[in-house]
Amino acid sequence: MALAAITSYQLSAANSDLARQSGLVDAEWVLPAIDPSVLRRLQRRSNLRAALSTSLWLGLMLLAGWAVVATAWSWWSIPAVIIYSALYGGASDSRWHEMGHGTAFRSRRANDAIYYLACFMLLRGPTVWRWSHYRHHTDTIIKGHDAEIAFQRPPSIAGTLWRFAHLQGGAELLLRLVRHAFGSLDDEAKELVPYHEHRRVVRESQVMVAVLLASVVASAFMQSVLPVVLIGGSTFLGGWLVVFFGITQHAGLQENVLDHRRNTRTVVMNPVFRFLYLNMNFHVEHHMFPSVPYYSLPGLHHSIGDQLSQPLPSTWAAYRQIFAALRRQQVDPTYEIPLDLPDIHGDARPVDIGAESWMRGPRGEIIVGLDGSLEHGDLRRIDVGNRSLVVGKTTSGSLFACDGWCTHAKVHLAEGTVIGEEVECPKHNARFDCRTGEATRKPAKDGIRVYPVTVSNGRIAIDLTTDDSVRP
Ligand code: FES
Repeated sequence: MALAAITSYQLSAANSDLARQSGLVDAEWVLPAIDPSVLRRLQRRSNLRAALSTSLWLGLMLLAGWAVVATAWSWWSIPAVIIYSALYGGASDSRWHEMGHGTAFRSRRANDAIYYLACFMLLRGPTVWRWSHYRHHTDTIIKGHDAEIAFQRPPSIAGTLWRFAHLQGGAELLLRLVRHAFGSLDDEAKELVPYHEHRRVVRESQVMVAVLLASVVASAFMQSVLPVVLIGGSTFLGGWLVVFFGITQHAGLQENVLDHRRNTRTVVMNPVFRFLYLNMNFHVEHHMFPSVPYYSLPGLHHSIGDQLSQPLPSTWAAYRQIFAALRRQQVDPTYEIPLDLPDIHGDARPVDIGAESWMRGPRGEIIVGLDGSLEHGDLRRIDVGNRSLVVGKTTSGSLFACDGWCTHAKVHLAEGTVIGEEVECPKHNARFDCRTGEATRKPAKDGIRVYPVTVSNGRIAIDLTTDDSVRP
């Protein structure tokens, strides 16, 4: 098979082609069954919940930063620096992640603002990492196609432990940022980021490098390391926490499979860890339904948990499993942790989005009797000939009908969610304006067609008559 020919994890056009030939790229993944109304409820976003959690994180970081300054050069400054850097360079990782998905806040601006802040704290170029994470969700742990396979085989136990120091990883991130600031994108960035966004990558890197330089200049001017410790240096000092949580996600599990239950791990964690990690310990659930915000992942686990493998009962249990697997994989890179998976309910379609029935009206319009059953935020799929539509109600109650397939990849928007006047794709959280069809959030670039709708006697009429392909 083509996969056997992929000898490295490096993202390159050649490896990407080989992975594609294997049929594992942009493929359909196993998903559990879930009641659509439950999923719809779980997908709701809350500015309040995200604001409270974000304020607590930033507030604690400011407090710890103040303690670093106030206790400078005393023994007390050691715990102060440890706490500050863990919040700055460690807990920012889960904020980066959740805001990148755009699922924490209801407000897109709030998500983006925290996303850029967290990117800076982690020394990650915002655009490069956005595209990298889209790929990670499309082709999770597909060798040669997923840029975020952190624990590659054969693993090295010493190398894994060395990661916790974050010296090499941090230095690589910094050098990459500087390289991009000088306008020279590395091969991986070129492979991931569309060409029209390369200038943005350079501009973002320049801004981030300029801020880092400002902290160095401030340190030199004040003849104190404090500015560098507080801005930039804590990425290195707090990086251990990124590795501490990150290792539990996929390490030791299977590669090149289309079932997140086989390549991703859910771990029961204590409330402090869950705050720092924003509930990403429910990682299987997150990968299966990335449109569900972090605060609803426990509810999602409750709804689909019987279709998943048993979560690891503690972080310690996860580490024991991981290091045992890494030791085995050192001598036998093909070794994978054996899993006992329950059956998926039903026919393995995730959500019952069975296409609604329809009939043709006198003027060629499509008539469906859905009006009474559509709640605000509901979405339904309608298949008309070779076309698939989604009809729904926005949060404010406006009825709309538009093309059903996301323009980024073949995923149906009826499985997504409504945010205000936009419909969001369930796969990578692209959004489309329900009134105009415009693509309003990456990774979708092209818009979708919207169709005039009218309601009469509880029936919805969708005017497709301008489209030749569906005329009777
Ligand atoms: S399939 Fe990627 S955003 Fe829709």
